[in-house]
Amino acid sequence: MLLTNDTRIVYVNGQYLPAAEAMVSVFDRGFLFADGVYEVSSVLEGRMVENDAHIRRLQRSLEALEMAMPLAVAELVAAQQELLRRNNLKEGALYLQVTRGVADRDFAYPGDTRSTLVMFTQAKKLLENPLAERGMSVISVADIRWKRRDIKTVGLLAPSMAKQAAAKAGADDAWLVEAGFVTEGSSNNAYIVTDDNVIVTRQLSHAILHGITRASVLRLATENDLRVEERPFTLEEACAAREAFITSATTFALPVVRIDGQVIGDGRPGELTRKLRKLYIDMALASVRG
Ligand code: PDD
Repeated sequence: MLLTNDTRIVYVNGQYLPAAEAMVSVFDRGFLFADGVYEVSSVLEGRMVENDAHIRRLQRSLEALEMAMPLAVAELVAAQQELLRRNNLKEGALYLQVTRGVADRDFAYPGDTRSTLVMFTQAKKLLENPLAERGMSVISVADIRWKRRDIKTVGLLAPSMAKQAAAKAGADDAWLVEAGFVTEGSSNNAYIVTDDNVIVTRQLSHAILHGITRASVLRLATENDLRVEERPFTLEEACAAREAFITSATTFALPVVRIDGQVIGDGRPGELTRKLRKLYIDMALASVRG
């Protein structure tokens, strides 16, 4: 529920509005068809982390759905920065959503809509995350999502159901399983570390979101002489792994210490996971400090 005293400024189609006045039409195709895509960029020290990569993925998602960029890249980034400034956001996330826009309800794409662009900020402590010390517990659930998970659409009911199931079970999150193999987390990419210290994560395809954090974490791992294997892994392999972890823009790398109640490793955040979290945070801080 939104608080009536929400003091945030929200961006809607070129305007910076008080949260209570930020609105889109009931005929917006984002609302009627989940016909829209989004990006979440983390913010540290008032600046966005890896935003160029998020914007490039936004362009790919839009292209897959035959939608145009709502603004030129430079204008979009300027609007993001202005929103951060108006909200004085130092640490947290910037959420950006583009939908196909407003049209009378009809399944096929209407030809003449103007896309809707909304953005808002969320203040959140990212560097100090208790889950980095405690480790997360996850449950496994069937991956019931559609088959183009590489497109970052706002059709997020399946992951919402997964997170709700996790919350009901007293867990922190859910890992999604298809034909016995883990695809990814409900809103993050999933990894294990094998007994011989190989970092394993599913290869890129339509089956998972091509995480921006994933790409950087794998690059940092390789640069630091850690071994990486991109292949599917089963739930059984995960439960027997030395370490498990997730990555996403807002969590960086976070340890998973329990899967379906089974303890991973010694039940504490693993050494490689902690190392990768530190490497990623150091890289992110260096990038925002320019
Ligand atoms: N989620 N996989 C899924 C299904 C995701 O929703 C996300 C991101 C990721 C990680 O991608 P990235 O490293 O680019 O954040 C993987 C965002 C954070 C969200 O929905 O809030």
